Amino acid sequence: MTDTLTLTRPDDWHLHFRDGGMLHETVPATAMTFRRAIVMPNLTPPVVRTADARAYRERILAAVPAGVDFEPLMVLYLTGATTAEDIAEAAASGIVHGCKLYPAGATTNSDSGVRDPSQIMHLYEAMEKYGLPLQVHGEVTESHIDIFDREKLFIDRYLLDIRRRFPALKIIFEHVTTREGVQFVQDHDTLTAATVTPQHLMMNRNDLLAGGIRPHNYCLPVLKRREHQESIQAAVLSGDPRFFLGTDSAPHARNKKEAACGCAGCYSAPAALPLYATFFEEHGKLDKLEGFASHYGPDFYGLPRNADTLTLERSEWTVPQHIEADGTTLVPWQAGVILPWRLAH
Ligand code: NCD
Ligand code: ZN
Repeated sequence: MTDTLTLTRPDDWHLHFRDGGMLHETVPATAMTFRRAIVMPNLTPPVVRTADARAYRERILAAVPAGVDFEPLMVLYLTGATTAEDIAEAAASGIVHGCKLYPAGATTNSDSGVRDPSQIMHLYEAMEKYGLPLQVHGEVTESHIDIFDREKLFIDRYLLDIRRRFPALKIIFEHVTTREGVQFVQDHDTLTAATVTPQHLMMNRNDLLAGGIRPHNYCLPVLKRREHQESIQAAVLSGDPRFFLGTDSAPHARNKKEAACGCAGCYSAPAALPLYATFFEEHGKLDKLEGFASHYGPDFYGLPRNADTLTLERSEWTVPQHIEADGTTLVPWQAGVILPWRLAH
């Protein structure tokens, strides 16, 4: 049995660092493993301009521990007021690596998002022209649509049309959760990809709802049926380079998760790579971890693969039950679970 595993240093292609004092927890937790991360812009207020992204990037860099090499890759939050000039400025900045489409109301801090994704064709056109990727939260938002059907409907109603009209636009289907999402990516070319979270690989909706409701497994898009989980697993285990690592690590204070109306988001950063390694090993495909974690993401974004490496060692450890941060308590995803792999020092 392999006892150590050395990989090209991985990157996280989708996460939420939050802001302020919380950065002193989230940034080191990610930077101990990942060299770069795509930082989601759903702050309050959101990151809508290049100047906002620049200032947020500086706050993140100030929280990187001394001696650690970490690069935040910034993202603009599309709104009804975003202009093609905003896109051009972001593309020229060198620090913005994509624009995030949040349908208004789809998830945490998405209220300023786009009301009708078919009404911003000029922005997709500008992104295609200036070579800025589109990161999509792929769910419709109407309250009468069943939450388990929202991803499929988004693809049918909006995404196929956007994909057809802008053939040179890079599109990332963020945190894919359904067979239809996987199929959408597989049916298209190498400019279409998806990020995959540890929770959507390792869990299905029974882990949220059977035998008691488990708020720490609640995220958006919500966990789906087992057959959807299996189709995400199959895509990732096949080594298809269009599916790569994006944790969607998204901390919320414990009292906001364990509540009558609990927040969506799993704080997975503290155990991210050991979690993915455990998944690949359980399926006999540990050899496919490196491509997923370290190669396919930079290749898709047109960035160099990292030059250094990271080593995991086979040594059991327990994901902490809770973490104190910014005057509050976080419960990491899979708190209390014993994992077989840890980062080597
Ligand atoms: C994210 C958050 O809390 O910011 N929550 C989540 O459940 N994934 C937002 C998002 O990515 O949808
Ligand atoms: Zn997210």
